[in-house]
Amino acid sequence: RGSLAERVAAQTREVADFPFPGVRFQDLSGVYAQPRLVRDLAHALAGAYRGRFDHVLAVEARGFLLGMAVAQASAKPLTLCRKPGKLPGPLHTVSYDLEYGTDTLQIQRDRIPPDARVLVVDDMLATGGTLAAAEKLVTAGGGRVCGHGVVLEIAALAGRRRLYPSQVFAVHTVGGAQ
Ligand code: PRP
Ligand code: MG
Repeated sequence: RGSLAERVAAQTREVADFPFPGVRFQDLSGVYAQPRLVRDLAHALAGAYRGRFDHVLAVEARGFLLGMAVAQASAKPLTLCRKPGKLPGPLHTVSYDLEYGTDTLQIQRDRIPPDARVLVVDDMLATGGTLAAAEKLVTAGGGRVCGHGVVLEIAALAGRRRLYPSQVFAVHTVGGAQ
């Protein structure tokens, strides 16, 4: 039934001018409707870093879906990286720039074991701002990022370069700029 990348591509819908004019939204809803595809994605992401991570960090909100699946597939503990006001403290907090304004992510202190090798999971890599912030939180929490895993990478936004030298594993890559 095709490669994993082809199966993701078949379930990804590009939506013009959503949520803002000029933005091409990548809708992965169809991916989550395919239980075998989700399972295979979780194993692919875990497999890309096999033997190199002890812990999974999932980024709110869309990263939660695959992050839990990767933690289950690899039998590793999961920590949630959340938007502000959701987690009781004490916390580590990082703010980062968006195209319009800023956003903030948080993790609970002491959630990540000292020196844990952390695989950061999200649905998508665009500018890399989200994963860069997540990486800062892992470092603040006393862990180190072994790499990032996403289903979809938007290559034209050069998020991979922003995250360098951290490794990024993307199942499927599209070229288009937002
Ligand atoms: C989207 C997406 C990634 C991020 C990618 O999340 O789920 O997390 O943007 O963009 P970046 O590489 O430019 O940071 P969003 O912040 O829209 O929120 P959500 O996951 O809560 O829907
Ligand atoms: Mg997100």
